[in-house]
Amino acid sequence: MLIPVEVGQAVPFDIKRVYTVFDTKPGVRRGFHAHHRLQQVAIAVAGSCRMVLDDGKARTTVILDRPDLALTLPPMVWHEMEDFSDNCVLLVLADDVYDENDYIRDYDAFLELSRARA
Ligand code: TYD
Repeated sequence: MLIPVEVGQAVPFDIKRVYTVFDTKPGVRRGFHAHHRLQQVAIAVAGSCRMVLDDGKARTTVILDRPDLALTLPPMVWHEMEDFSDNCVLLVLADDVYDENDYIRDYDAFLELSRARA
């Protein structure tokens, strides 16, 4: 298999950072934050995981279980990741470098901000 990931196609921004999440222990859930400005694209290049997305109004769940499926994670979307398969390798492409100040890690604060910006 060969799967291209191109800026302008699956990735709607210029990539400044790439990171991977793997070797996730059974039962571990990750994320539990939103970003003020960061845009990301997540691809399970191996295995699978479940992504819970919350825009402050509604929650949706997306199963990432195919390497040709790219999920866009816009700013101001609370996300949680769970049900990682043993072999899951989650590739994440981001439009900016790591900045802790861009994180919203408190759900109530996220809801308040989300409502204020609506
Ligand atoms: P975090 O984004 O909170 O991961 P998750 O939501 O998957 O639990 O990051 C976990 C830790 O790793 C946190 O201390 C910040 C650090 N980190 C970096 O240093 N650089 C990065 O690019 C990322 C994504 C995280």
